[in-house]
Amino acid sequence: MSEKTSKDMQKYFQAPSLKDAKVRRHSEVQVLKDEFIIPEEMLQAGNNKKFYIRTYGCQMNEHDEEVMAGILEAMGYTRTDETNEADVILLNTCAVRENAEDKVFGKLGELKHLKLNNPEVILGVCGCMSQEEAVVNRILTKHQHVDIIFGTHNIHRLPQILHNAYMSKEMVVEVWSKEGDIIENLPKTRNDNIRGWINITYGCDKFCTYCIIPYTRGKERSRLPEDVLAEVQELADRGYQEITLLGQNVNSYGSDLGDGSYTFASLLADVQKINIPRVRFSTSHPWQFTDEMIQVLSNGGNLMPHVHLPVQAGSNHILKLMRRQYSGESYRELYGKLRNQIPNVSITTDIIVGFPNETDEQFQETMALVNDCQFDGAFTFLYSPRDGTPAARMNDNIPLDVKKARLQELNQKVNADSLAHNQGYIGQELDVLVVGRSQKGENTYAGYTPQSKAINFIGDDSYIGKIVKVRVTEARTWSMQGELVEA
Ligand code: 5AD
Ligand code: SF4
Repeated sequence: MSEKTSKDMQKYFQAPSLKDAKVRRHSEVQVLKDEFIIPEEMLQAGNNKKFYIRTYGCQMNEHDEEVMAGILEAMGYTRTDETNEADVILLNTCAVRENAEDKVFGKLGELKHLKLNNPEVILGVCGCMSQEEAVVNRILTKHQHVDIIFGTHNIHRLPQILHNAYMSKEMVVEVWSKEGDIIENLPKTRNDNIRGWINITYGCDKFCTYCIIPYTRGKERSRLPEDVLAEVQELADRGYQEITLLGQNVNSYGSDLGDGSYTFASLLADVQKINIPRVRFSTSHPWQFTDEMIQVLSNGGNLMPHVHLPVQAGSNHILKLMRRQYSGESYRELYGKLRNQIPNVSITTDIIVGFPNETDEQFQETMALVNDCQFDGAFTFLYSPRDGTPAARMNDNIPLDVKKARLQELNQKVNADSLAHNQGYIGQELDVLVVGRSQKGENTYAGYTPQSKAINFIGDDSYIGKIVKVRVTEARTWSMQGELVEA
């Protein structure tokens, strides 16, 4: 290695550390209003250049993509959906399960020829996978055609990171394992002008034993209420019809602010007063779902009657191994309260099958809980060990065919319940926010009911972005069919 490149390596090399990512420090997180800057020399860097971003994973990642797009556009880059037209390619990755990671490594392999044909292209890996020590090591050894790796805590440094990449022949790695501060002045290019995401918390302190997120997203930090409310108001003023308040666990919003007296319930009550037609939130941990939250939600208004309440398992033994801090009984109790107190609420969940040592009986306890709850919908997953998590040290001893058989049994049940809920709406006239054309057929438009149910109907472009009445005519497992009710 030449002297120049070894110096470059030291200068632009800050790799993640699993050990540091586990630590929760007491130091106060700062809210910085002018931290994001584009260095003078990067202000025009993107003129006549294009960027491509591919996002994997959750809504948080989708929203991060909007921030990266905003930053790149502020430097003059324009967007393309074609990798072979792009000057900067970013893979915004998800680490939550192994198959999400496999997809990214597959894509990196695919992009190798492109990089060989055009060495000027900057290929970057960002998002949750880049926060993982093992992933960064694998990229360093096996995917040397990658130019930059940056993490979830330093997205605001994208201009500087790109600058370093243009200056250096070596891979630029800038991943902070200590969570960053809250940066409030980031540009955003939203992908949608009807529905918008708004972060309310970053990170997670729950450390469920199977989950990588506390390591990739860091300590839980809440944005200030005034910053959240200003963003809601801004989207309302711009004509947005719906916002979703985002956090790994929205329930604990505010616990790190001041004396903790301004809670998620307080935030919901304040957002309820803003003139935006629809407000959603995701995700709620069943623990810390307070009576105040239920009370505010039951008042309705613009707060939509849908709660995503991941249960993960029905067996108390497995819930304990997962460190979920509730039991099957307390989940059922909360579930009952939500059903009774929030008019017409829909409740969806996440479930993992095949956690280490899960017996057939324990899986049947999950089935029993699902049977009792009759969820409106469920995302179901095969357990996937994540490096560095406590569960990954347990023996992943459930054979794949057993995991798959359990998943199939579970899916049959949750799909039947979902269909039954949808059938219950047949004949009803529902308020539907029309989000765009549907792939389902000509002149077919797609929208969502207050309960977050997808519905298709025949219409025209003039309905896009409006809330219209649709009568449900047919129910399917994942969506409904309806007809527009003339005003
Ligand atoms: N294996 C399988 N599923 C997981 N999830 C999170 N971590 C894992 C894992 N290691 C699921 C949980 C969570 C959802 C977002 O992903 O159900 O609620
Ligand atoms: Fe992961 Fe648990 Fe935090 Fe959700 S609450 S992000 S499952 S650690």
